Amino acid sequence: MRTLIADAAEATQARVPSTNQPAIQAEVRTTPQAITVTESRAARAHMMVARVLLGGVALQIFFAGLAIFNVSTFLPHMILGPIVILGSLALPIIAWCGHLAPSLRHRSWLVFGLMLTQGLLIDVGRLIPFVAAFHPVNAMLLVLFVASMARITASTSDR
Ligand code: HEM
Repeated sequence: MRTLIADAAEATQARVPSTNQPAIQAEVRTTPQAITVTESRAARAHMMVARVLLGGVALQIFFAGLAIFNVSTFLPHMILGPIVILGSLALPIIAWCGHLAPSLRHRSWLVFGLMLTQGLLIDVGRLIPFVAAFHPVNAMLLVLFVASMARITASTSDR
């Protein structure tokens, strides 16, 4: 962080021709730049986690397909499931710590909530089978929301 601020200060001073108060200029101009660098790092990390999560969700759906068509049991799906669910907690943590855009923070919490719901739908579905039918529907919502944060299309920018 210290290096980033120093780099930004040097960059600013290099661009601005020397005036009477170079030190004050550096102080005033570098703070927002340093914050922007931190935010952009968090934004990139958030996007990468969303992409990995999207891959995990796709794999999870594939494992469900393998089981449905009797190629395997549901064991791979039931092993990867909790990993994907826990992994999704990284999204709101990065969004919150990195001071990312409110819409991104809210969607990150929403994804984590939907992930928790995903497991609960199976548990409740063991008592009320009708409820379990929402498990694949919720998976579809998860794909939509996670994909919106993975920025795999040009229309998903947050700012
Ligand atoms: C985001 C994608 C998904 C995630 C994170 C996920 C997660 C999970 C988890 C954690 C379980 C175990 C729940 C428990 O035992 O308490 C489970 C079970 C199950 N999932 Fe998924 N799932 C996803 C998508 C799907 C899809 C698309 C289908 C079907 C088309 C599906 C069908 C099932 C079935 C049938 C079970 C019960 C397996 C059994 O009890 O033998 N899942 N899922």
